[in-house]
Amino acid sequence: MELKEKISKTFEERFGTEGTFYASAGRINLIGEHTDYNGGFVFPGAIDKVIMAEIKANGTDTVRVFSIDINDYAEFGLNEEDAPEQSWARYIFGVCRETIKRGGTVKGFDAVFAGNVPLGAGLSSSAALESCFAFAVNDMFNDNSIDKFELARIGQSTEHNYCGVNCGIMDQFASVFGRKDHLMRLDCRSMEYEYFPFKPEGYTLVLVDSVVKHELADSPYNKRRASCERVAKRLGLDTLRDATMEMLDAVKSDITAEDYFRAKFVIEEKQRVLDVCEALNAGDYDTVGRCMYATHNGLSKDYEVSCEELDFLNDLARECGVTGSRIMGGGFGGCTINLVKNELLDSFLAKARTEFKAKYGHEPKVYEVIISDGARKLE
Ligand code: GLA
Repeated sequence: MELKEKISKTFEERFGTEGTFYASAGRINLIGEHTDYNGGFVFPGAIDKVIMAEIKANGTDTVRVFSIDINDYAEFGLNEEDAPEQSWARYIFGVCRETIKRGGTVKGFDAVFAGNVPLGAGLSSSAALESCFAFAVNDMFNDNSIDKFELARIGQSTEHNYCGVNCGIMDQFASVFGRKDHLMRLDCRSMEYEYFPFKPEGYTLVLVDSVVKHELADSPYNKRRASCERVAKRLGLDTLRDATMEMLDAVKSDITAEDYFRAKFVIEEKQRVLDVCEALNAGDYDTVGRCMYATHNGLSKDYEVSCEELDFLNDLARECGVTGSRIMGGGFGGCTINLVKNELLDSFLAKARTEFKAKYGHEPKVYEVIISDGARKLE
């Protein structure tokens, strides 16, 4: 059954009425990983996989929400002490609270939601969920008076304050601002952004999902961020945005080897985003691809957020002559993103399926990337 139909049927059964439909998207990122919280550049786009919700104000102070995919129901008030137990519901509660903290209005509502953003694949299903509800609450209770950046920040603060992830702004930005057939280069310090038409002639962008999710025990994401902040502080900077390799080498003996390599990756990655944008403008996909491999290498060896399965997929892409390939998103599992010449696509995917299965016992999942619109109301 189609997503919308499924939601509509459940909403009618549970609440005996009809609401308004909203959706927001997952995202890919062509290049610029772990740079957002360092004041650097990112280059994401929204995709055609979404979280969709049907929502209606219910005239009370209570939110009642049902998740079709998790098959679970939550009910909560809108005060700080009303936080629900279920982690999935905390995303929605967080969005309501962060809207209220910013002076926005939120009243009770009923909602049913479902999605087709694969979970744990590094495609930001959580940002899609946050942006969908942030957009809806803005439309239903605030006459769309909250601007789009603030909607993205509402999602980001939800992660920080209600979900324990000290993330940057990239995912929520992409989910809110996404535009069909365009990637967006965002400067995460000035928040200036630019849309880049993206339809690489003769190439396909494809995700190969290892379907591996390594435990984020000990919160390695937050630890990476802490390393970067320590180095920036040592350099007397707010973020690593203005750091150079010369500056880093000058303090090498004062910082741990681990922090040194984390910062080295960030400094190099910052430049690669700019190089990729320039190469794209020139139609130079070989350079784009080389930068993607260099990012993978840095994420694997210096930033240490890859894993055996993703390194395996990256090696395989290289052997098959794939133009560019790298781990995408926060890391510790999930997908590789691959820029593949159309004539190589079938042989690459066939080999990835067979060889990955022979080694790890299951096939990877494959998703072709379609760059699409971000948060919206559905008619
Ligand atoms: C996660 C975070 C983002 C970003 C990426 C890595 O997706 O939510 O803010 O830091 O990891 O680039």
